[in-house]
Amino acid sequence: MTITHHDEMNGLREIGRIVANTMHAMAKAMEPGMATGELDQIGAALLEREGALSAPQTTYDFPGATCISVNEEIAHGIPGSRVLAKGDLVNIDVSASKNGFYADTGATFRLGAVSPELEQLCRDGKRAMEIGIAQVRSNGPLAGIGKAIGRFAERRGYTLIQNLASHGVGRSLHEYPEEIATWPTRSDRRRINRGLVMTVEPFLSRGGLWAMHGEDDAWTLLAEPCAPVVQYEHTVVATDRGPIVVTLPG
Ligand code: CO
Ligand code: CO
Repeated sequence: MTITHHDEMNGLREIGRIVANTMHAMAKAMEPGMATGELDQIGAALLEREGALSAPQTTYDFPGATCISVNEEIAHGIPGSRVLAKGDLVNIDVSASKNGFYADTGATFRLGAVSPELEQLCRDGKRAMEIGIAQVRSNGPLAGIGKAIGRFAERRGYTLIQNLASHGVGRSLHEYPEEIATWPTRSDRRRINRGLVMTVEPFLSRGGLWAMHGEDDAWTLLAEPCAPVVQYEHTVVATDRGPIVVTLPG
């Protein structure tokens, strides 16, 4: 959506705060021995308490309130019987709607101590997202996001998953402009209009290039080639003075 009124900004900020609070509460509740389905129930209860509806559920009939992807799973993991263990990388992605406004946020969390390499990957994944967000402003090139993230990734010897794009959001979960690359592209000449609401969600990896469907279900995406992947995602609004992040806890 494109924001033109304060009311719209307030509606978006409200659902932004709800999805952010939900994701962070889930991350805090996470512990070894817990099944991802239990973690999802915590998220579902928080969304319900706030009067929010899970976006993947209402939009795509996703079998869960939130997406929880563990280790080799990089996105759209179905919450269920998988049991979390110390040292897991757990991606929690929460998107929801309230009063017709949608917001989307995600992050990869460490369950206890992980290797220094994975610690670094998490830090740099967040940095990659921030670098992409810094490119969001009225009339800026959409391709500037992927260009800046690509430069950062290449300098540090990382790869980017190149078929899981960022997207417009606000009045639905996925809307115009569809398919915003967080990797370098040549052909995209679109510009960011003032007030545009979109996600920035690069998938940073040490070797992974593509997201592929696994064999167990129709949702879960795995990295090809197999490698650790992290994702950090915010919903942002483009203004003349730069980006406004709306998926902040509060
Ligand atoms: Co998301
Ligand atoms: Co998204």
